[in-house]
Amino acid sequence: MSALPEGFVLGSATASYQVEGAAREDGRGPSIWDTYSHTPGLVWNGDTGDVACDHYDRYEQDLDIMAELGLDAYRFSIAWPRIQPTGRGEPNLAGLDFYDRLVDGLLERRIRPVATLYHWDLPQALEDAGGWPARDTALAFADYAAIVGRRLGDRVGMWTTLNEPWCSAYLGYASGAHAPGRREPAAALAAVHHLNLAHGLSLQALRSVVTGTPDYSATLNFHVLRGEDDAVRQIDGLANRVFLQPMLEGGYPEDVLADTAAVSDWSFVRDGDVETIRQPIDVLGVNYYSTARVRVWDGVSERLTADGHKGVGASPWPGAERVEFPPQPGPYTEMGWNIEPAGLTELLLRLHRDHGVPLMVTENGAAFADEVVPDPTRPGGKAVHDEQRVAYVRDHVAAVLDAAEQGADVRGYFVWSLLDNFEWGYGYSKRFGIVRVDYETQERILKDSALWFAELARTRRLP
Ligand code: FCB
Repeated sequence: MSALPEGFVLGSATASYQVEGAAREDGRGPSIWDTYSHTPGLVWNGDTGDVACDHYDRYEQDLDIMAELGLDAYRFSIAWPRIQPTGRGEPNLAGLDFYDRLVDGLLERRIRPVATLYHWDLPQALEDAGGWPARDTALAFADYAAIVGRRLGDRVGMWTTLNEPWCSAYLGYASGAHAPGRREPAAALAAVHHLNLAHGLSLQALRSVVTGTPDYSATLNFHVLRGEDDAVRQIDGLANRVFLQPMLEGGYPEDVLADTAAVSDWSFVRDGDVETIRQPIDVLGVNYYSTARVRVWDGVSERLTADGHKGVGASPWPGAERVEFPPQPGPYTEMGWNIEPAGLTELLLRLHRDHGVPLMVTENGAAFADEVVPDPTRPGGKAVHDEQRVAYVRDHVAAVLDAAEQGADVRGYFVWSLLDNFEWGYGYSKRFGIVRVDYETQERILKDSALWFAELARTRRLP
């Protein structure tokens, strides 16, 4: 199949801390990523999101770019510390106003706003009070969701509660490769549960205030695993099923509780939580970049940890001391992630088969070492011929269409990312944008991948 299915949504995605900058403007409070990136030695080159792509002040220009590309939808995230600078209490109106202008600007250009409530920028004050391992954070999140839902709920087309809670829990609290940088495996499991709880509570809160008829969703980053059965089962449990099962089916997988029994007794799961977490959703968001290989470690040779996750640190896998991650065969992107589009088809078919839920690819894309070359035929006289990114995106859109042809109900594809941006622990060293950002001048240059994507959006078939 090379034509997009009827109604298929094509979009691009970004996240607040990665693009907005304006870290201290209009009453925004500090988040865990401000603290983490300002701590020497944690982020490549000492980079921070203080300025980033200055999207907060340049959003009109970025909206024009999206309109020029013919995008159907834009997936952005809302910075909690702009809305509640300390994570609790009265809303900061200037923060709400920004997202109000953004949403109106999208609608004026006929682009569907897809809003994520949490893409990792937890207000620092909530981390100081315990962070995601503390139950109160989930309760505060529901209040925040209600504030945002009341203000934007008449216009947002799709709400996503959490982006990749796997990263928030395990990279934030077990490996330490992400903010807040803690290395406490038991706390990471408590974070898993409180993120799941935050998902359920925020859906309830949104539904009680929203006046429009949006779709509701959560976005997970799935691990598509290759290798030995027991290692695959264990990592699939910690990576995928520990979120999928409570959100979609109810309760935690028995094998995950058993595998992690030496780390935690899961006594943070209270009566009623299982019911709260399992709320109806309209769409499941799927982020996919690569696959991973696992096997049972022999306990003697050096344990391999190249599992394609982000950054270095302790193991992000509580209770999985006997599993190792041998490197995957290439080709690879600049992140060192292997390129395997068939893994995306396989994943979409599995989710369709096991859960029968409508799906949306909410992130897929690649970092490559782009080069800017002079080109008098292009606006601004510059071009980026990123053939590798064009091939990556084309092959993954084709993989999505394959899954659709084989019966999966896939409703859309969002390329990560609209703009080059702050890639967490890698700072500005990795460029994922289909639009180049010159961080000195804030100039935007449409890469060939952006022009290719525009062609896809215009013709509705794979160029
Ligand atoms: C995902 C994140 C996104 C970006 C891409 C490359 O894990 O959700 O913010 O960093 O990876």
